Amino acid sequence: MKKVNIEHVVEGLCEIPNEEFHCDPVYKFLSDNPIEIDSIEKYFNWSEKFYTRNLIYKDERFELMAICWEKGQESRIHNHSEQMCWMTVPFGKLRGQNFRVVEQIESQGYCKLEETDEFDLAECIAAKVELEEPVHQILNLAEFDERAVSVHIYSKPFDTCLSYCNETDRFSEVKLNYTSINGKLCSDVVL
Ligand SMILES: [Fe+2]
Repeated sequence: MKKVNIEHVVEGLCEIPNEEFHCDPVYKFLSDNPIEIDSIEKYFNWSEKFYTRNLIYKDERFELMAICWEKGQESRIHNHSEQMCWMTVPFGKLRGQNFRVVEQIESQGYCKLEETDEFDLAECIAAKVELEEPVHQILNLAEFDERAVSVHIYSKPFDTCLSYCNETDRFSEVKLNYTSINGKLCSDVVL
């Protein structure tokens, strides 16, 4: 399939009418428009300390970002604040692990999770986070032995989410920050 540059992807997403900006149409759009890696290189930032979140586009309805993963880096187990999410991996390979919330007691910050299905993403294959089972973790496994870049669409944009710890059975709200915006490193970031 012919790859397209990121500007084309942004334009195409903006053109989707509100009533179609849902799981399946956006998933199909992302599947039909594999991203040309050269067109997102200017958004890449790499850190040995953490994976980087690099904002490419944001409006009221959605945000689009590139996340750069060094070998062996992984996200926390998290949800998406009940927002829709799609992702694709134009560079390298990532493992997704989904979880089922078996028990959650909000007032105590207690949760019990159970691993469910896992999936691997590479070569611009698109995926969507299932709203019925929205807790997951993304891992660039050491055995993959290479850097990876994923591109994410979140609708609507969100800046906090719940982060879960499987070892302690605790969860808490965490604030999400950008590493860079429009290709420019944020002032408070030290890579
Ligand atoms: Fe996620």
